[in-house]
Amino acid sequence: MQLHAPAELTTCRLHRLGEGIGKVVYASEHWVVKRARQPSEILALIVIWKMLRRLERLLPGHRVSRPAHQFHFLRVLVQALVRVVPRGLWMMTHAGEVWRTYRARDQHGETLTREHLAGTPVVPRTIRFPPTRVEVDGWPGYLTVTEATERMEATLHQRLHDLAAAGRLEEVEVWLNRWLALRQAGWQRGVFSLDTHLKNFGVTGDRVVLLDPGGLTQDWSAIEKRLTYEGSVASPHRQLGLGTLLRGHPEIARRFDAHWRATVNPATVQHHWPTPAVRT
Ligand SMILES: Nc1ncnc2c1ncn2[C@@H]1O[C@H](COP(=O)(O)OP(=O)(O)O)[C@@H](O)[C@H]1O
Ligand SMILES: [Mg+2]
Repeated sequence: MQLHAPAELTTCRLHRLGEGIGKVVYASEHWVVKRARQPSEILALIVIWKMLRRLERLLPGHRVSRPAHQFHFLRVLVQALVRVVPRGLWMMTHAGEVWRTYRARDQHGETLTREHLAGTPVVPRTIRFPPTRVEVDGWPGYLTVTEATERMEATLHQRLHDLAAAGRLEEVEVWLNRWLALRQAGWQRGVFSLDTHLKNFGVTGDRVVLLDPGGLTQDWSAIEKRLTYEGSVASPHRQLGLGTLLRGHPEIARRFDAHWRATVNPATVQHHWPTPAVRT
């Protein structure tokens, strides 16, 4: 626990840096603070996400584009609708189930991070301080926080796309390998991430870190289920959303897929696991 929040958090307005389904993240130069979204906000996002998926099924071959301002408007609208329906009713819908799963995974991941990853290079550094009011973009313009997290230079997703756009494909491959090394460092500490979206990892210096603890687990039946699925994926790099990025570089794609298969499998995960794996 620190005596004060870092001065840079309180001397200027913090800008919105990124967001996920459950959090909005604001940053100063070296630190980020997080705002947990309200349940109605998360439910609204889940409902919209389900609508967009349905729409995409109806229009095969089309990806529905989502300009930010229209998306924001839609979210506010759906959130208002979500609020007028009693919470108990929502909880009986599929969206309610998705929300419960998200929340449970997020809370469990936070606990596992505190117990196994805090203070290691696998996650960004986090500091705690007495409740501090910070100014942020958007409504209502401020936020009270009790912790801040080391700001990463970019998400892994951004870094890979920036490097590919600049034609620096050898570096794309270096980062992909560092990422696989980071996943193994997690397994050595007895945790496995079920949520391997590239936006959930950050890069800084030559380091990759896990940004989003949601989806971390120690449960071998969940891990095995996930690994069985991974084993059935025809093309890991496409499954990760790197199909377009690596389209002109079949050699890198082939090497990465082979490396992924040799790593993300039960034998390798068990090999790294600190205690003999037991099914719960
Ligand atoms: N320490 C950090 N440094 C830089 N960006 C971050 C950091 N933590 C989070 N972000 C950004 O905020 C986004 C959402 O954070 P995340 O923890 O994944 O929330 P959620 O649980 O809602 O998915 C990330 O995808 C990333 O863009
Ligand atoms: Mg996330």
